[in-house]
Amino acid sequence: MPTARLTIDPHFAIGPINRRLFGSFVEHLGRCVYDGLYEPGHPTADAEGFRQDVIDLVKELGVSAIRYPGGNFVSGFRWEDSVGPKEDRPRRLDLAWHSTETNEVGLHEFASWLDKVGSELMLAVNLGTRGTLEALDLLEYSNISGGTALSDQRIANGATDAFGVKMWCLGNEMDGPWQLGHRSADDYGKIASQTAKALRQVDPSLELVVCGSSSAHMPTFGEWERVVLTHTYDDVDYISCHAYYEEKNGDLDSFLASAVDMDHFIESVVATADHVKAVKGSSKTIDISFDEWNVWYIDRYHGVDKIEGVDNWPVAPRLLEDAYSVADAVVFGNLMISLLKHADRVTSASLAQLVNVIAPIMTEPGGIAWKQTTYFPFAITSRLAQGRALELKLDAPTYSTEVYGEVPLVDAVATHDDETGRSAVFLVNRSQTEAITVTVDIGGLGGVAILETHTLADDDLTAVNTLQDPERVGVHANDSAAIDGRELVITLPPVSWTAISLG
Ligand code: AHR
Repeated sequence: MPTARLTIDPHFAIGPINRRLFGSFVEHLGRCVYDGLYEPGHPTADAEGFRQDVIDLVKELGVSAIRYPGGNFVSGFRWEDSVGPKEDRPRRLDLAWHSTETNEVGLHEFASWLDKVGSELMLAVNLGTRGTLEALDLLEYSNISGGTALSDQRIANGATDAFGVKMWCLGNEMDGPWQLGHRSADDYGKIASQTAKALRQVDPSLELVVCGSSSAHMPTFGEWERVVLTHTYDDVDYISCHAYYEEKNGDLDSFLASAVDMDHFIESVVATADHVKAVKGSSKTIDISFDEWNVWYIDRYHGVDKIEGVDNWPVAPRLLEDAYSVADAVVFGNLMISLLKHADRVTSASLAQLVNVIAPIMTEPGGIAWKQTTYFPFAITSRLAQGRALELKLDAPTYSTEVYGEVPLVDAVATHDDETGRSAVFLVNRSQTEAITVTVDIGGLGGVAILETHTLADDDLTAVNTLQDPERVGVHANDSAAIDGRELVITLPPVSWTAISLG
């Protein structure tokens, strides 16, 4: 059996773990909102029409900030449509997803839902088909306590207290030709800088995210970041990264190494941001908001799901409802490891998305809500990864992949919380054939015991949770874990994700 070794020492910190790393994303897309988190008439629906079973699952998932309302949707969105009496709200064409937006759920309803799930609102403004003035209007409506036209309108619409939104995204994926209002880096950099300055004139404490690339594989990647940050460096706090991974051409070995690509993506954006910092002679550091990440079988959308037709604009169609397998969940858990490994610079991240649409939570109208395989690594990592992320010394055998060359069979990260004295280790085994025994030197932690172990693995890597079989895949305790002196030894099954809590 192959073996790997790693050493944990709480003195070697990467950086503090910002809770915003465990954020998510709700877009007006498919059944994420309608027939997802909102379904009046469902047996568990509350007085506002929100499904209590979904609220409970979101709370258990441990989601911090939630990005809203898009995504591609936001680039055609008029925020004014989504406030005021519901019966007066217009139905609009949503060009991004070829659907009808009823505006039944809008800013007030979503803010109320966020209170129920205990998450923070992160708002995206439309810089595709709109501009600085509309962004300013939304800020006034949302954050000014009262005494102006728009803040008084919010109060009249039922929200006496301002929403107090701290984090704002300056548009969405403006580098993508599919985006309504797609621009060159130069044009976007100018409007983003102008809008950021205006928003900051209202409230200098706002945290602003400028759009980076929608994938590290865009032809403009790298140069886009350089040009956009050259325009906006002094005006923003974060640059965004978006990345989706899928198994292509049956190449599971490469898919299992997707986090190698995420590592590289993050490190490239950090290098570019720091280059602009050096050129400007700035003392300020720009962080990353990885505000869309997941496994997504995107080709399936283009091939099967895509809606077309001038007279065909359905309400809440079933779109992007990927069912996640065991292998998908292992890759997903590894992407979370990658985010934690870069906790010094990735200080916000949003799992895209939350309900029904490439989501960890699925619902059936009138029926049950259930956890996808990806739910488990997210919920466990969000709960156990506390304090700060630790630099690891990892020695692992490698394997060869078509896409990424030679990569380690094991990837891992550890965390340590000074307040509780607890540590956690998160690991993946990427081998399709071999279990791997990992020896962890925990001498630096002092005398600790194993508090919890969770492993996600299955003989059938394609197994999924479905409406018919919602609990087919889950996590189980890893009974191989044992501490002997200053060493923890654990066996990781082939294609598996594992979390260990020590204290
Ligand atoms: O999350 C689905 C879509 O992916 C988002 O709307 C868009 O920003 C990205 O391309």
